[in-house]
Amino acid sequence: MTLPKHVTIVDVGPRDGLQAEPEIVETTIKIELVNRLSAAGVPSVEAGAFVSPKWVPQMADATEVLAGIKRYPGTRYPVLVPNEKGLERAIASDVKEIAIFGAASEFFSQKNINCSIEESLERFRPVSIAAQAAGMQVRGYISCVLGCPYEGDVAVESVVRVARALDDMGCYEISLGDTIGVGTPSKARAMVEAVAKVVPVDRLALHFHDTYGQALANILACLEVGVATVDTAVAGLGGCPYAPGASGNIASEDVVYMLDGMGVETGIDLLALVEAGRFISSALGREPNSRAAKAILAKNA
Ligand code: HMG
Ligand code: MG
Repeated sequence: MTLPKHVTIVDVGPRDGLQAEPEIVETTIKIELVNRLSAAGVPSVEAGAFVSPKWVPQMADATEVLAGIKRYPGTRYPVLVPNEKGLERAIASDVKEIAIFGAASEFFSQKNINCSIEESLERFRPVSIAAQAAGMQVRGYISCVLGCPYEGDVAVESVVRVARALDDMGCYEISLGDTIGVGTPSKARAMVEAVAKVVPVDRLALHFHDTYGQALANILACLEVGVATVDTAVAGLGGCPYAPGASGNIASEDVVYMLDGMGVETGIDLLALVEAGRFISSALGREPNSRAAKAILAKNA
């Protein structure tokens, strides 16, 4: 089995996680979560989304979150940006990295960002170009790479086409989203191999929700073919308001535990990560949705 020596973890909990909470989480809690993840050594912490507050009120305070966090040198703080208005807000918050987010499924694109895939690519192109001109790095997401909550199966050609378009508009990395966690390892690996024919595998990231309990296995299958960046969410937070049935992202603690055990470096202090997960879970009034975190907390009790 060939595995990368180092894997870069992108913790999307403060964005993907908290956007999906039914209650709006207080700004101070969000700030503390981002700070704790940075202090644990997470190299990239997705700190929020400059999307329409009418669509996702949970992210309406992104400006305040970005103003309140301590920015650790060497930590990246990407934010979601859907359009030029979002980019203006990101520039005003001195953001260095944005993420634009398309989909491989037409129906999901309509539900999530109110336009077709083609329209979204036309909208993202000037946003990406302007962001790069402003000195920012641009990450591209593709949702529904292994299935869509509305359309079911999604053709891998559609994923490849969107990946090529995001690459053409200058995205330094493309994150492949199994939005509803339906993939299984061989299918996930085949999808990655198909995309890697148009975008080099070292510029691909995995963004797997764990709805069917497959995410860890899917991640391992894709690390074996050379992917070395994985999106996770502390305490298994996550979901998407426009993907019915989508549950949390794979828990950061579970991925870091697995990688530590296999001798793959992440630079993350697992115990500090578990504490960050405990912090946010207790603020939300529940246990962390991470098997590794629960086991570590029980052992250390
Ligand atoms: P729209 O309604 O078609 O656009 O929304 P609009 O331009 O008519 O805007 C509607 C209102 O929102 C207007 O306000 C705008 O000014 C305002 P009004 O004039 O009515 O007072 N507005 C904004 N305000 C602040 N910041 C902005 C902004 N844009 C518009 N950036 C739009 C189109 C794309 C804006 C909307 O559909 C939207 O914001 N969608 C975001 C949905 C979202 O955040 N989904 C979750 C994130 S994606 C995800 O979770 C998947 C991922 O994790 C990967 C995976 O798992 O697959 C990334
Ligand atoms: Mg997601």
